[in-house]
Amino acid sequence: MRKIALSLLFALVALTASAQSALKRVYNEAIDPMAQIDSALAAVRAEGKGRLVVCQVGGNWCPWCLRFADFMERDAEIAQLVANNFAYIHVNYNPRSKAAQQSEALMKRLGSPQRFGFPVFVVLDQAGNVLHIQDSSFLEEDKGYSKEKTLRFFKAWAPQAVAPSNNVMRTIEARRSVRRYLDRPVEHAKLEQVARAGILAPSGMNLQPWQVRVVENREWIDGVTDLFKKANPDQVKRDAHFKNMFRNAPNIICVATPDGQPSVDAGLMGENMMLAAQSLGLGTCCLGGPVRFLNTTDACKPYLDKLQLPEGYSICYILAVGYPDESPEAKPRDMGKLQFVK
Ligand SMILES: Cc1cc2nc3c(=O)[nH]c(=O)nc-3n(C[C@H](O)[C@H](O)[C@H](O)COP(=O)(O)O)c2cc1C
Repeated sequence: MRKIALSLLFALVALTASAQSALKRVYNEAIDPMAQIDSALAAVRAEGKGRLVVCQVGGNWCPWCLRFADFMERDAEIAQLVANNFAYIHVNYNPRSKAAQQSEALMKRLGSPQRFGFPVFVVLDQAGNVLHIQDSSFLEEDKGYSKEKTLRFFKAWAPQAVAPSNNVMRTIEARRSVRRYLDRPVEHAKLEQVARAGILAPSGMNLQPWQVRVVENREWIDGVTDLFKKANPDQVKRDAHFKNMFRNAPNIICVATPDGQPSVDAGLMGENMMLAAQSLGLGTCCLGGPVRFLNTTDACKPYLDKLQLPEGYSICYILAVGYPDESPEAKPRDMGKLQFVK
């Protein structure tokens, strides 16, 4: 009986080993993984198609690593999706390898992916920054991998999903403060869309502590501008492009808050409106200067009354809106103010 049990055990071990050895050994143990990553990055940069790099970190010693490689190779849809979007490399790593120092440097470079087990996937942008580390256990199903989960992973990290070619990112990058506009009022439907984007902004406890007034009335804009010109003749004379006190915009959106106090809520709504306007081909400029004039000049009172703000509310800021008549360069931003805490 003992003999039969032993034979059965040997047969099982032999079967498992042969199934594993039948899988292609995809990890090249002879090459330096650091150089392999460098060369994949150089290749995607040189081809100029925006592809990213995915490192499938593991080794020939890891049956699940070889199984994943086999699964990917057999599925034409996954293979095509990956080929279109990534340079896909099998990065050899053996936690028990003697070249411990080298392995340590590799893990540091890839954001310590070994903590998730193997295989583990590391998505790199073209500069070699780690964009994402994917724990492969989330892609498993039964005794193999799920096609649906795998496709979802690769689609979620494809260049168009993460890069500025994403529409929202493109709109954010393209926005500028515009201070010269065409003499053409913005269509009511577009202004409505812009204002609605503002109202959709988040606010603390959803209190929506704002009032929004879209001014489409030319006499209102020209009327307060006449008052501004009388009060500031020299400033107006110095500006050769002066059309009106709202940086020459044909339309404005006044955002009012309790006592005119600046607030996170009001700021979030403003950026929503500016980005919506940008996406509709409009230019904007957030204005604080005209608010001071409106709120401190007695002669402006009839104009403010026309806005019919509730008791206790006054204008916090104004957005100039119109079709741009200039394409300003991007103002510099200090990326040194940004830090990641890991
Ligand atoms: C609260 C606030 C008030 C501003 N006030 C004025 C203003 O009165 N006049 C003006 O020309 N620009 C004003 N701006 C626009 C800023 O000068 C502009 O956003 C900044 O220089 C960055 O340029 P960018 O918007 O093109 O990226 C204001 C912006 C903010 C956020």
